[in-house]
Amino acid sequence: MSTAKAISPASAAAALTELWSPRVLAEVDDAYVKVAKVKGNLAWHAHPDEDELFLVLRGHLRIEMEAGAVELGPGEMYVVPKGVRHNPVADEECHLLLIEKRSTLHTGDVVTEKTRSLDEQLRPLPGE
Ligand code: NI
Repeated sequence: MSTAKAISPASAAAALTELWSPRVLAEVDDAYVKVAKVKGNLAWHAHPDEDELFLVLRGHLRIEMEAGAVELGPGEMYVVPKGVRHNPVADEECHLLLIEKRSTLHTGDVVTEKTRSLDEQLRPLPGE
């Protein structure tokens, strides 16, 4: 009997109870696949050595960058290149899938009250 189990990022993101608190869903080589529920803005920051992929599962996300913003709707994604300062903003609740290297810090080169440690991101998902 197989123990393989499908993962639903949309269901996992919907089950989250904390905002701006990503959870690791899976590992792909040296990267994590994470989900997050967000509303409001995170913080201006950069990841000097890592790209960061944002895929919107539900809602709408604006990624502010110094050269301009990108607007993402459901099913749309954007990769913030390493070193580019960015600030994710959601006017209404938004569910995200993120792909980040294991070494990527949640708020990059800044620390705010929203910053979450990797241990916090590796906690079991609600309901598991
Ligand atoms: Ni970032």
